[in-house]
Amino acid sequence: KKVVLAYSGGLDTSVILKWLQDTYGCEVVTFTADLGQGEELEPARAKAEQMGVKQIFIDDLREEFVRDYVFPMFRANALYEGTYLLGTSIARPLIAKRQIEIAKEVGADAVCHGATGKGNDQVRFEVGYYSLKPDIKVIAPWREWDLNSRTKLIAYAEEAGIPVPSTKRGEPPFSMDANLLHISYEGNALEDPWAEPDESMFTRSVSPEDAPDKATYIEIGFEKGDPVTLDGAALSPAAMLTALNKVAGDNGIGRIDIVESRFVGMKSRGVYETPGGTILLTARRAMESITLDRGEAHLKDDLMPKYAELVYNGFWFSPEREALQAMVDKTQEFVTGTVRLKLYKGNATVVGRKSPFSLYDPVIASFEDDKGLYNQADAGGFIKLQALRLRTLGVNRHKMLPC
Ligand code: ARG
Ligand code: SIN
Repeated sequence: KKVVLAYSGGLDTSVILKWLQDTYGCEVVTFTADLGQGEELEPARAKAEQMGVKQIFIDDLREEFVRDYVFPMFRANALYEGTYLLGTSIARPLIAKRQIEIAKEVGADAVCHGATGKGNDQVRFEVGYYSLKPDIKVIAPWREWDLNSRTKLIAYAEEAGIPVPSTKRGEPPFSMDANLLHISYEGNALEDPWAEPDESMFTRSVSPEDAPDKATYIEIGFEKGDPVTLDGAALSPAAMLTALNKVAGDNGIGRIDIVESRFVGMKSRGVYETPGGTILLTARRAMESITLDRGEAHLKDDLMPKYAELVYNGFWFSPEREALQAMVDKTQEFVTGTVRLKLYKGNATVVGRKSPFSLYDPVIASFEDDKGLYNQADAGGFIKLQALRLRTLGVNRHKMLPC
């Protein structure tokens, strides 16, 4: 009897670790991932050792996260409900995948996560686990135990000798989740959707009011839909997202304050910072605007909400997400070139785009001499046939209307 716990080293998952040992009497293996959340991971090792854990996994998954999850998702320009860049959603399948790999490696028959029974994360983790190892046993302590208040949790921690940081003694201000793509804040003070968040909450961006008075220009180079250079310098996927986060955050870009529809049915209010992702989406769309044909561009836009919903709901490892991905990736073959952006006080404005495969033809588009490539007289017949059904309808309807 062995269980692999997704362990952050924080108070909640430390209590879970102890609770697993107490309740199931099983051997706990911990897994801590560096997804660019910006926290030291070594303290998690020390804490796990202290609680008698013998097998401790600490993995730096930043490159894999951005290369195999974030960038493929951005190729689809995925946005959930028109606004959410899916920062938390996209990290869950990778954590699930690595947790299952570890379970197989150490011969564990169960996995455990610290998501509550009210949210999306439980679904994302568990749908991931079950698709990768159909016979896995899942332990979700928040759905099982009676430590359903902060006070009870802290009392349990103290009894078990788990250090409780002084900031955790009062009500914690927000529920947060962070990785290289975003940081989320939910709960507590934010539960009133009419209440504006306090400026002190934000950690990845300055407020637009405090951003520099002078604009910053950047150039992002793309290859087959993925960003590969920043101002001419080649960067790995994780280094690229890190650099974009910095320059966008410094210019107050990437904050959203939304109410979203959770998969489990409730509405929930969240405030997110996604600085690099926000400018990446803007730049990618500009790159596609000159390199994609209208037909393929509109088709992928039609399917985008479906793709985003699959990621949001935790169906990354589903055949339909993979089929959509194959379609999306096929469209990216010629999405290569450079986009120039002007960053200023919370805004990212596209000011230039170029590509060796550009479909933009200045001669055809020009109001000046088009060298016979476009015959304006053709447009008359084109419009008349387009209008035929509406004219027919118009004649018919007007007959019925009192004049
Ligand atoms: N509501 C967002 C989502 O469902 C963020 C979730 C944040 N998760 C967390 N454990 N704090 O993707
Ligand atoms: C949680 O409930 O654990 C976090 C929020 C969510 O998963 O949607």
